[in-house]
Amino acid sequence: MTSTAAESAAQAVHALTSADRLVEIRRHLHRHPELSNEEYETTEYILSVLKQAGVKITDYGLKTGVIAEIGGLQGGPVIALRADIDALPIQEETGLPYASLHPGKMHACGHDFHTAALLGAAYQLKEQERSLKGTVRLLFQPAEEKAKGAQQIIAAGALENVRAVIGMHNKPDLPVGTIGIKEGPLMAAADGFVVEIRGAGSHAAVPEAGVDPIVAASHIVTALQSVISRNVSSLNSAVISVTQIHSGNSWNIIPETAVFEGTIRTFDEDVRSKVLQRFEEVVTGVAAALGAKANVRWIGGPPPVINDALLARLGEQTAANLGYTSLKPAPSPAGEDFAFYQKVVPGLFVFTGTAGSREWHHPAFELDEAALPVGAGFYSDLAMRVLEHFSAEEGVHHG
Ligand code: NI
Repeated sequence: MTSTAAESAAQAVHALTSADRLVEIRRHLHRHPELSNEEYETTEYILSVLKQAGVKITDYGLKTGVIAEIGGLQGGPVIALRADIDALPIQEETGLPYASLHPGKMHACGHDFHTAALLGAAYQLKEQERSLKGTVRLLFQPAEEKAKGAQQIIAAGALENVRAVIGMHNKPDLPVGTIGIKEGPLMAAADGFVVEIRGAGSHAAVPEAGVDPIVAASHIVTALQSVISRNVSSLNSAVISVTQIHSGNSWNIIPETAVFEGTIRTFDEDVRSKVLQRFEEVVTGVAAALGAKANVRWIGGPPPVINDALLARLGEQTAANLGYTSLKPAPSPAGEDFAFYQKVVPGLFVFTGTAGSREWHHPAFELDEAALPVGAGFYSDLAMRVLEHFSAEEGVHHG
């Protein structure tokens, strides 16, 4: 043994930054998917990989998920890089040799990709630690799929002192080597609703003796589409989808109640509050007109993902610097709980091209692992660029 501990740690870090190693990490995560807030093995694995590279783990008392820090040796601003780590309750149908070993669970949204890319960025940043112009806090966030994890991270205090937060999502319809960067709205607010219509039961042959909740629910479901067509400007967009409707249990009885559920997607807070308000007015108004009572229960989803203009510009510079193609992606009507961070600090959420043939949440979802170094490189280079920008600003103010 001639090498010092520092040398062997440096060698370990170097070995860890290879593309092969990122594939190995991603496949390990892919084989062992865990659902939201149950990411125990995943947490242990992330910790072990970070510790191999000597990355400092910071304890925020999280049940699952990992917070770590790199840099800050000479003070400076703090920024955060975020990856989500949870999987979905889906039976994998890819037939891949590294398919899920956990029945009924699958990384069908590619959060294994995000986690591996952020671990790769951690190694790269660790190698550059001495020259970092501040601190990079790594947020390995649990429970994105339930839109809970970001709020848990914020409640734990891990966003304190943070000037900017950066996250990414793989994007199957973009080629490898492209980064989708867009200032302003990128992903939708995802609000859920459960509506209960209460009528009065009667014999099916004597409807005048009751109040039919099925007829009321049918009118309401149809009328709700007028909120989109008549209350939302043609320059904005919104979606209302009713996805379940339940009522009755016999062919000759008019039931007491009908219940329907669904989701609303919007890209702007003003549009969001207007659509939610009109939704309630239409539901209660139409129900009342038909003699029924209605109750709306909201299932709070994430707000829209709205990207900061300065960070988007730095993101474009990063892509150009690394020889990646940056393009303006079409906004996605999917929701993403990264938006909760952006309510607290400026943030940038980007799409990393992974050239897959299936959309997110499909049982045969797959991605091109050649995009792993692209994701890792983008995370780490952008982190350094943002730190440099903020520390230069501080120099102007205080120097
Ligand atoms: Ni996702």
